[in-house]
Amino acid sequence: MRIGVVGFGYWGSKHARVMGGLPDVNVAIVDSDEDRRLSAAMTFPAATTFSNLDEALHCVDAVVIATPPRSHAPLIKQALLAGVHVLVEKPMATSTAEAAELVDLAERCGVVLMVGHTFEYNGAVWRLREMIDRGDLGRIFYIDSSRLSLGLYQSDVNVLWDLAPHDVSIANYLLGTTPTQVSAWGTAHASRDMVDVAHMRLDYESIGVTAYIHVSWLDPAKVRRITVAGSARMAVYDDTSADERIRVYDKGVEAEAGDQQHFPMTYRHGDIVSPYLSMEEPLLVEDRHFLACVRDGDLCNTPARSGYEVVRVIDAANLALETGGPVPLLDEAAATPPALPVG
Ligand SMILES: NC(=O)c1ccc[n+]([C@@H]2O[C@H](COP(=O)([O-])OP(=O)(O)OC[C@H]3O[C@@H](n4cnc5c(N)ncnc54)[C@H](O)[C@@H]3O)[C@@H](O)[C@H]2O)c1
Repeated sequence: MRIGVVGFGYWGSKHARVMGGLPDVNVAIVDSDEDRRLSAAMTFPAATTFSNLDEALHCVDAVVIATPPRSHAPLIKQALLAGVHVLVEKPMATSTAEAAELVDLAERCGVVLMVGHTFEYNGAVWRLREMIDRGDLGRIFYIDSSRLSLGLYQSDVNVLWDLAPHDVSIANYLLGTTPTQVSAWGTAHASRDMVDVAHMRLDYESIGVTAYIHVSWLDPAKVRRITVAGSARMAVYDDTSADERIRVYDKGVEAEAGDQQHFPMTYRHGDIVSPYLSMEEPLLVEDRHFLACVRDGDLCNTPARSGYEVVRVIDAANLALETGGPVPLLDEAAATPPALPVG
């Protein structure tokens, strides 16, 4: 398999390392920046380098697109029309219309268009979903997600487009459906016109669950934490923890006599358990799955449709930033819950 990695920056260089380590894969590097191409040639002396996708398309079977978000849609279109399979980084596109067009185009071209929702290939996220599906947490009340740090300001998109696709894809995956309404609040602090701190609220009205998402490029502490609060237990996934990524708290609160209208509330305090998790690198699981989709025709766990579902939520959140009110998501066809990847 000849795989072209388009964009040899922070994340593309990781794809090149992972793809290059897989059996029977030859990697080529495409980057418009000469210094990045020189760096790629030094790291991967066997790899051919190209300065644009057009030059590379005739000598690859598939591409991984890891360029800045606004370049994704035109690069994907170019590859699909040449009959080349695509794994694109999140967000798949930067408008709902573009994303819908890409879903349609991939189908018509009969090639794989997979989106790199890395956390859907992560053992901790799979474990959370298993707990939810088995009913270990009881009835799900809400999901709360925080992704904060002194982050890299992006020149082409705000913090919602940069970070929140992770949280939206995780929430959709955990709940097995998509939200029906989005609200968002955000402010540009350090740069004049790029929102760098934002909060979102996603309403999954069909199942009565709310997801709260806080993303920030302007926070002194690195936080990568997802809480799933249920009526029976609460689970916290801390992606920065070395050995206790998930903690399950046997804690809860109930109104006395089971009557939600009446106080006082009673509190239950029980054990805190940290389950064992498989620690295979999510990017390796993702890239291997892409090859299996292309080579063996495996069913894609994060197809273009998942990318579309995430893009339309972030697009609606950006509209909500402007209008100040909730934005309904009119296409309410709930996504088919993706099959759990075999990891
Ligand atoms: N899945 C994850 O966990 C994860 C993590 C980080 C970044 N990302 C995503 O990866 C993508 C890249 O992010 P990054 O941080 O690596 O950016 P980056 O700026 O470090 O790298 C982008 C590279 O693309 C090159 N480039 C830009 N336009 C190009 C074009 N038209 N053709 C060829 N090369 C081009 C640039 O020269 C640069 O080397 C983004 O979509 C980002 O959201 C995903």
